[in-house]
Amino acid sequence: MAEAVEEIAVGCIGAGKMARGVLGGLLISGKVPAKNITVSAPTDTNLQYFRARSCSTTHSNLEVVSRCHVIFLATKPHIIPTVLQEVSSAITPNHVIISMAAGVSLKTLEQLCPVGTKLLRISPNLPCVIQEGAVVFSRGPSAGQKEADMLKCLLSGCGMCEETPESYIDIHTGISGSGVAYVYLFAEALADGAVKMGMPSDLSRRIAAQTLLGAAKLILQSGEHPAKLRSDVCTPGGTTIHGLHELEKGSLRATVMNAVEAATKRARELDKR
Ligand SMILES: NC(=O)c1ccc[n+]([C@@H]2O[C@H](COP(=O)([O-])OP(=O)(O)OC[C@H]3O[C@@H](n4cnc5c(N)ncnc54)[C@H](OP(=O)(O)O)[C@@H]3O)[C@@H](O)[C@H]2O)c1
Repeated sequence: MAEAVEEIAVGCIGAGKMARGVLGGLLISGKVPAKNITVSAPTDTNLQYFRARSCSTTHSNLEVVSRCHVIFLATKPHIIPTVLQEVSSAITPNHVIISMAAGVSLKTLEQLCPVGTKLLRISPNLPCVIQEGAVVFSRGPSAGQKEADMLKCLLSGCGMCEETPESYIDIHTGISGSGVAYVYLFAEALADGAVKMGMPSDLSRRIAAQTLLGAAKLILQSGEHPAKLRSDVCTPGGTTIHGLHELEKGSLRATVMNAVEAATKRARELDKR
């Protein structure tokens, strides 16, 4: 595949939340023009979003494979075998197949595709849609540096993107794919605490979100360990240490670690089914 990324015909089988996240990132960043994108799904429910953005849409997964070289698989994990059985005969050595299905290993994908198919596996998260995603990917034995570079270039439109060993992919699902939901729960609780103390709900929600955003940016920009930044905010005998003591009593740290472990294990289980 010698063409520049903006000339690549990109397809996506499945049109739900994560297809929107990843393709939305590609579209907003201008990495791929809408005219080069084709998306399929059985119903019009989610295709509407892509039509409104001038992408081609179809109910035929085979049409996506025949029109596009780079194809994202964005159905729920249990649908992946059905989809690949359906399109396998149309997959050629020119195709690059990229699965975002949680818990579906490269080995499983290999078994469902023709021998030698260029396969990559990504673990994205929802903020890809605003180009603030955290994506990791791994490649199968037939995908080379060229395919990895192409994917990295495409996904740089979605936020951070790093190649990792495949054993990290399920962990990424635990910390980041699912992690987004933990952060929303924390944001909700932070805002509810302020509502309890008398602040209007809308204002407390915005302040909670900005607090998370600012704190996260400071970790990334300072390069400091979160524990150091946390200790910097703790005046002896001050407000923060009193608040932190309550979080420690509620075992926040152990609970969050348990959540990452549970989601990672669940992702690993999905591949065994
Ligand atoms: N959501 C996340 O935060 C997240 C994070 C990381 C990874 N993932 C992975 O991303 C994948 C998609 O998740 P999601 O949350 O986007 O799911 P979703 O919103 O339920 O979307 C699934 C899509 O698949 C389509 N579909 C169902 N059967 C199909 C078939 N036979 N052929 C083609 N398309 C079919 C659905 O069609 P209709 O539109 O007609 O219903 C829908 O558009 C999953 O494998 C998940 O593990 C998700």
